[in-house]
Amino acid sequence: MLRRKDEQKVVVNENMRGGNGKIAMRHFLSEKEVYGAGRIFAVSDIPPGASIGYHAHENEFEFYYVLSGEVTIRDDEETYVMTAGDMMQCKNGHSHSIENRSAEHAEVLMTVLYDQTGKKSFMELARARFSVRKYADRPLEEEKLMSILEAARIAPSAKNAQSYKIYVARSKEAIEKIDLITKMRYGAPTVLMFAADTGGSYQYEDRNSGDQDCSIAATHVMLEACEQGVGTLWADNFSPSAAKELFGLPDSMQPVLLMPIGYAAEDAEPAPRHAEMKALEDIVEVL
Ligand SMILES: Cc1cc2nc3c(=O)[nH]c(=O)nc-3n(C[C@H](O)[C@H](O)[C@H](O)COP(=O)(O)O)c2cc1C
Repeated sequence: MLRRKDEQKVVVNENMRGGNGKIAMRHFLSEKEVYGAGRIFAVSDIPPGASIGYHAHENEFEFYYVLSGEVTIRDDEETYVMTAGDMMQCKNGHSHSIENRSAEHAEVLMTVLYDQTGKKSFMELARARFSVRKYADRPLEEEKLMSILEAARIAPSAKNAQSYKIYVARSKEAIEKIDLITKMRYGAPTVLMFAADTGGSYQYEDRNSGDQDCSIAATHVMLEACEQGVGTLWADNFSPSAAKELFGLPDSMQPVLLMPIGYAAEDAEPAPRHAEMKALEDIVEVL
């Protein structure tokens, strides 16, 4: 499909998102033409003094690329000057504004794409998850945390007894205690402690169902968190007895794992080990 410049629809927006002046947007593609992948594919002409006001992107993200001129960007609390060839992404959940403080017109290519994270298949989601070992200094909203924890509540468990408890460490005091028992927090603002309730669990030879109940509940949490754009780490490297003592847990509660949870830092990357998976025939044996 070829669409010449003069065939593209130009829309002039005044005081866009509470900003100043008139901004002409040349839409080179429509939402329908990208099969619902996004809603804005345009080149904006931003005259000197004009701006797009500060606004949030929820469930979507924006890439913009300066074709010519100079613009000043505020992205959440950071301010940047961008010139021709610079690209910026305003991530899902972030806010930004764009202003031309220079004496020349600026041309900016803008694309707003829908965050498709929630539309991943199970296998895509499972592949997208990785252990986050660097968290952003951004609190995890209470409501979001609770909706993620709902995934634990609906996990299967031995005889459906749900023989575990999830302790949520969020207060300064609780986080200080977590830091005394592990080095695995990696800056996460919240840490979940999954503990098996040996009082209500079942013993099968040398296995206790509480450990397994914790494991599957924690796995549900990891995957739901990933779906909601939230990072997690499963951490065994801590002292369960020290955790029990510091938090004054009842005798029957046995801590199984810690799970730092929160927004990943911008530069958080999977560890090299993440990609080192065994072949299927190495982990499966047909009897
Ligand atoms: C039972 C279990 C215990 C783990 N303990 C730790 C830990 O103490 N510290 C840590 O950094 N990662 C820990 N991990 C994370 C693993 O290292 C990680 O899942 C694995 O290397 C695969 O990488 P990925 O999660 O990025 O795919 C643990 C994972 C599991 C399932």
